[in-house]
Amino acid sequence: MGNTAYAEDEWQKTYQSYLELIEWVDAVFVKITLNHCIVADCMESVVDKVYQERRRFLEFVIGAQGTHKVQAKNAVDAGILASVIADRMHLSFTQNRTVIEAALLHDVGMLCIPQEILEKPESLSKAEQWYILTHPLQSYKVIGRELHCFEDVALIALQHHESWNGEGYPKRLAGADIELESRIIAVADAFTAMITERPYRRAFGGHQAMKNLVSNTMIQFDPEVLKAFVHLMGMYPVGSMVELNNGAAARVLEYAEGVPLLKPRVRLIQNGTCVDLLSEKGLLIKKSLERKDILMNMSETADQDKLTG
Ligand SMILES: [Fe+2]
Repeated sequence: MGNTAYAEDEWQKTYQSYLELIEWVDAVFVKITLNHCIVADCMESVVDKVYQERRRFLEFVIGAQGTHKVQAKNAVDAGILASVIADRMHLSFTQNRTVIEAALLHDVGMLCIPQEILEKPESLSKAEQWYILTHPLQSYKVIGRELHCFEDVALIALQHHESWNGEGYPKRLAGADIELESRIIAVADAFTAMITERPYRRAFGGHQAMKNLVSNTMIQFDPEVLKAFVHLMGMYPVGSMVELNNGAAARVLEYAEGVPLLKPRVRLIQNGTCVDLLSEKGLLIKKSLERKDILMNMSETADQDKLTG
């Protein structure tokens, strides 16, 4: 990696492009809130952007905190994750784009729920819980009727909280009766939810979020989807900070297909150099790091204020 400066410049451009996409999706959500119809072309452009940049944006799902547009960030992140899962599961180009569109819009029903319920730090009352449980149906209505999207996108959104074991909602569907695209979005959505801070809890780190997901196998999530997700993200997921067994801190960049789960490509925090652990004999991930651990000892080449482990 002799060309670190160029790589950093490219990295910054990609990061800005990711933030712009979040702003774009936030503007769509504002229009929905104001009951303005969203022209299909607008969503088409957003889906294009996610599809084209999904691999390069992947590290920002965990790594980026440069926005307060939480709902839009979650939607974009769900779109990115759902798309790369669809890649790994060999879905067609058309299916992949449908997955992205549904992932971007699956939670628009939440825009119908009063903010005071969403931001309430205490436990919700029965009535408030019921309100939250209606959001997949609200998403279905918004997508199908107001946005004039295709029925398949609305149906996928309707089923995103159905559970593999049949204990989800709204219809308690189980297994393959749930649309495959909904099963993919369920995993992507659960992961983005866990790494996001809530009024009632702190965000989980990437490694802990992966452990939580895996412990759910055969219960909430389709095991094949979960398997694809673990293999592409790793147990120390793409975008997270790790300590290598030589003591160096690094950010995980990519797990190539078929590569052992402790041998991803990483970027060293100290000098920005990219290292493929597969070609470095004896070098592997030792443990996950919290952002505070990094800040105590060294500075990252990237914009540290906008990043977290
Ligand atoms: Fe949801």
